[in-house]
Amino acid sequence: MKKTPKAMILGTGRATPERVLTNADLEKIVDTTDEWIRERTGIERRFIAADHETNSQFAARAAQRALQSANISAEQIDIIVQGTVTGDVGFPANACYVQELIGATNAAAFDISAACSGFIYGLALADGFIASGKARYVLVIGCELLSRITDWKDRATCVLFGDGAGACVIGPSEGERGLIDTFIKSDGRLTELLCMKGRGTSIPLEVALAERKVFLAMQGREVFKYAVTAMGDASAHILEKNGMTSDDIDLFIPHQANLRIITATAKRLNVSMDKVYVNVQDYGNTSAASIPIAIDEAIEKKRLQSGNRCLMVAFGGGFTWGSALVQL
Ligand code: ACO
Repeated sequence: MKKTPKAMILGTGRATPERVLTNADLEKIVDTTDEWIRERTGIERRFIAADHETNSQFAARAAQRALQSANISAEQIDIIVQGTVTGDVGFPANACYVQELIGATNAAAFDISAACSGFIYGLALADGFIASGKARYVLVIGCELLSRITDWKDRATCVLFGDGAGACVIGPSEGERGLIDTFIKSDGRLTELLCMKGRGTSIPLEVALAERKVFLAMQGREVFKYAVTAMGDASAHILEKNGMTSDDIDLFIPHQANLRIITATAKRLNVSMDKVYVNVQDYGNTSAASIPIAIDEAIEKKRLQSGNRCLMVAFGGGFTWGSALVQL
């Protein structure tokens, strides 16, 4: 019988804009304070793209770094999958623009719209493609320019988000290391709690513009509650399914939305904060990019090393959520 290949992370990369927007800068834009933002979210600064910069440029830069660290050429990539809700254009897929920028001429390229869970959804797909033998190398990217869909007049949301990109090259593992399992889920009854209504086809553009429905809208308290429950459940589920407990994990990488969501999730899972990767203070919430940025940074800082077990978990609009267990 044909042996099922195990998928593993072969290389990682990240890219962010140069411009940094601090909480002090935000105090000049909306009625807020550094203290309020730090206390409620843990965020201190975030990267914001310049007007001329695009999602595909950052995604391509992160992808090129991941290819370099994996020692794989762009032509070897079979599939490019990008988690994003802020692509360069309405269509075609942002992954197609990335494909052109990096010269991945042999790939099929497409996007996943799963908001902040986009990277974990991408990992689940990559795992399936590699295990089924349909692909050898998959480039999974999470990249968002959330600043472009942020209402800079709404203090309840504009302090939360940032721009950035992260990418991983996924390929077959030679040994036991690799993706142990992935889990994805969604609940379409809760779309209203976090959405952007006015850039689709259900509302005429002129109405959407007049009613300011062209920005991300969120019911923060509800999102908070569901995020903690869903990320806790998705983590517990994947650990239990694979006969593990949080003691078997070397590093926990939750989606970097908000420090309070991260600490509440860790508490629910009984994981001490020294095992939890946190960089939300420097990036804000970069949605689909947050986990691949964190993986790349954690490897660079040697918080994640070869052989380490890592649990990642995400939650976002849809609602969507998911987890991934990997041995690096
Ligand atoms: N600065 C100062 N005051 C503010 C600000 C701000 N930036 N934003 C809101 N306030 C005020 C409100 O107007 C309100 O004032 P009022 O009491 O006079 O009416 C007060 O602060 C409390 O507002 P709440 O919304 O109840 O504040 P809360 O404690 O819930 O914190 C927050 C808000 C930070 C958004 C929180 O609900 C949260 O973290 N939610 C999760 C949202 C999130 O992370 N979403 C990301 C997308 S989903 C994901 O990635 C998981």
